[in-house]
Amino acid sequence: MIVQTRDELKTAIAQANPQTLGFVPTMGALHEGHARLFAKARTENELVVSSVFVNELQFNDAQDYANYPRDLDADVQLAAQAGVDIVFAPRAEEIYHAGMPLIRLNSGVLGELYEGASRPGHFDGMLAVVAKLLHLADPRQGEYRAYFGQKDAQQLALIRRMVADLDYPVQLRSVPIVRSPEGLALSSRNALLNAEELRAALVLHRAIELISGRAARHEPLNIDDALGLFQMEPLVELDYFVVVDPNTLQELAFNCQDTPFTGQGLVLVAAKVGNVRLIDNQPI
Ligand code: PAF
Repeated sequence: MIVQTRDELKTAIAQANPQTLGFVPTMGALHEGHARLFAKARTENELVVSSVFVNELQFNDAQDYANYPRDLDADVQLAAQAGVDIVFAPRAEEIYHAGMPLIRLNSGVLGELYEGASRPGHFDGMLAVVAKLLHLADPRQGEYRAYFGQKDAQQLALIRRMVADLDYPVQLRSVPIVRSPEGLALSSRNALLNAEELRAALVLHRAIELISGRAARHEPLNIDDALGLFQMEPLVELDYFVVVDPNTLQELAFNCQDTPFTGQGLVLVAAKVGNVRLIDNQPI
């Protein structure tokens, strides 16, 4: 079932009267990564709700917003096949009914790092819509769970903080990155890459694999070698490649030339391939 207004969504959830509700917010252009989120929500909940809404507030670049892939019919089909019961596909006026919100969430110091540094306002805008959507899909009774992909590691960390800091009555679940057979992390933005860019984009995964292999063998990470791989791909403009603490997302101090790697970390990478910004990550 597809619903477009908050009233329709509320009625559909009330009629289903679920003991457990799994909610998967998306911006559409759904792919296998989303299908994994739906599948996990399906196995854990009586009712599965997903939203498809391209949230203008989280785009710091108007062209990026305009270019973002949109195909609601295909999204509804994929969601239905993956067992989603209700797709909430609101118009912008339905979400921002009083115009752009005056009261905003601030993603704090965590929102200023990495993606936040390169995309000012992105995380505040993302939190603004997630805060609203979590309210709109809230069943008000029974168990309420929301599902997010681990590809957006910083987004996930911020949503965890928001849910904890603002006492949202929702349990968060996350699902590992899904990759193409060649290793590219699945993303709605991959649809914007041409064949040459798709090939070049594989350097993100190659660089991560280089470092995660060394970590697994407890060798010095020598991040410079990973940076060197990017220099050999003229179509790819690296933004950041860092190893961070998986809990705080602060960059690890020994980053990471001579000391053998022990402990835990998270490799985060972002790069522009042609005009398309891609991110990836891997725990090590
Ligand atoms: O990850 C996304 O697709 C979006 O950032 C989200 C969480 C649906 C908010 O618009």
